[in-house]
Amino acid sequence: MFYRADEHHGMKHNPFKALVSPRPIGWISTRSADGLINLAPFSYFNAVTDFPPTVVFGCNGTKPAGGGKDTADHVRETGEFVVNMCTYELKDQMNASSAHLPRDQDEFAAAGLTAADCELVKAPRVKEAPANLECRLVQIVQLRSNNPKVTNNLVIGEVVGVHIDESIVKDGMIDMTVYHPLARLGYMDYTYVEKVFAMDRPD
Ligand SMILES: Cc1cc2nc3c(=O)[nH]c(=O)nc-3n(C[C@H](O)[C@H](O)[C@H](O)COP(=O)(O)O)c2cc1C
Repeated sequence: MFYRADEHHGMKHNPFKALVSPRPIGWISTRSADGLINLAPFSYFNAVTDFPPTVVFGCNGTKPAGGGKDTADHVRETGEFVVNMCTYELKDQMNASSAHLPRDQDEFAAAGLTAADCELVKAPRVKEAPANLECRLVQIVQLRSNNPKVTNNLVIGEVVGVHIDESIVKDGMIDMTVYHPLARLGYMDYTYVEKVFAMDRPD
């Protein structure tokens, strides 16, 4: 089959996100200029460069009650955010933190998580997550939207500090079979890493 992306796909549900999967989950924490803390998951997320380490996430749409998402607002105000790496073991807390709470309500508390201080940024990190990336904003790019109700923001951040819990380190490497990073598939589906295989490059 083939469908033009500006026409209906003819399937039960839009297959786009199921095709581009699995997607890692950037579990983003922020602190607003007036000190409010916030946490929300974003699966339009990835790492895009090594030198320096750079991450991106898509903060799209508006809250059901109207207004932009708190995450993009806070990053714009302060120029900082933290990517908390989400695992299978933290899936329920991650899901709870996606609730559209009013700006002054804190998803850390709502999800039963601990907000710990960072080293280099004022945004808090999820203490329970086995790894956290402290980030400074590089740029927010407003992408084209073909839905008048939706604003599409690509947030680009440089990683300036990295926390790793020793529990996921074995022989100086991240042990994926202990780490269990969670990833988003299409629809309401998820997966996590259980099996790993290696391949050498041809040159
Ligand atoms: C697994 C998962 C992935 C999500 N990915 C995205 C995403 O990539 N972009 C987005 O705008 N919202 C995404 N959402 C929805 C946001 O998490 C949700 O709108 C959240 O309430 C935004 O919170 P905020 O207003 O505190 O920033 C996702 C939700 C879940 C559960």
